[in-house]
Amino acid sequence: MKRDFLTLWDLSAEEISHIVKRASELKAGADASRCPLIGKSIGLIFEKASTRTRVSFETGIYQLGGQPVYLSAREIQLGRGETIEDTAKTLSRYLSAVAIRTFEHERLEQFARSSTVPVINALTDLHHPCQALGDLLTVQEKRGSLKGARIAYIGDGNNVANSLVEAASRMQMNLNIACPEGYEPDPDVLERARAEAESDIIILRDPREAAGRADAVYTDVWVSMGQEEESDARKKKFENYQVNDALLACAKPEAIVMHCLPAHRGEEITGEILDGPRSVVFDQAENRLHAQKALMEFLLAP
Ligand code: CP
Ligand code: NVA
Repeated sequence: MKRDFLTLWDLSAEEISHIVKRASELKAGADASRCPLIGKSIGLIFEKASTRTRVSFETGIYQLGGQPVYLSAREIQLGRGETIEDTAKTLSRYLSAVAIRTFEHERLEQFARSSTVPVINALTDLHHPCQALGDLLTVQEKRGSLKGARIAYIGDGNNVANSLVEAASRMQMNLNIACPEGYEPDPDVLERARAEAESDIIILRDPREAAGRADAVYTDVWVSMGQEEESDARKKKFENYQVNDALLACAKPEAIVMHCLPAHRGEEITGEILDGPRSVVFDQAENRLHAQKALMEFLLAP
């Protein structure tokens, strides 16, 4: 049976540990000449912009011996109204897997239901699980272990936050989320994560309280792709949620600073912090490559 990766829940804690460990081995150069995706073509459908996800998938597939097939939604019939189901059924006849970046999470689920090959979530409005996989590798590298780590997530309870909530629950990490009222992570994600977690997943209003005792301070943009019309209102709502020197002073002295990128310097994070010595944002970007290679190996060539 095909395995999809639509949210973190699609993998058990053991499977996530295996993928993070394998990602770390691949990063260290293990099996560089092994080509588990030889003869396989992987589709990459993007309905939103991307730098990291697109390039890390394209290069990762190539490094595993496969062929990436980039499909901008504007250039395929999907963009002219062909149904998501017909697109999925057609592409399943050519491709060994498809990664998709789209808007509504339901659209991804619809695609996955009609696809006979594995489907990977390359970001929806609700989830960004590939980001979370790469971030787990980064936290493990910097802190030595995931269990018991305390992450402070400051800002919008968006797709990146939702996947982080699920990752924390699966891997027994503690998560302090600071957000304004009405901008919490998805309630269903929170409910399941808390029900299954053996760690704390806490919502706070005060970013300083959230940053207290944190091993990592994580933030993301205040205005995600597709929310451009809410831009002014959101910037007002989040003005007290900037990751800056004063906030970082509340975290552990050795705390790292995380951001999935792209960042808006001067909004959710200051340029000094983003470019400073505690920032691991480009390690996070690099680790997308290694984590997704391990994920594709797991899904397609176990
Ligand atoms: N973090 C991330 O997914 O970046 P891109 O939007 O550039 O792919
Ligand atoms: N929350 C951001 C993440 C970008 C990688 C967005 O959805 O635009």
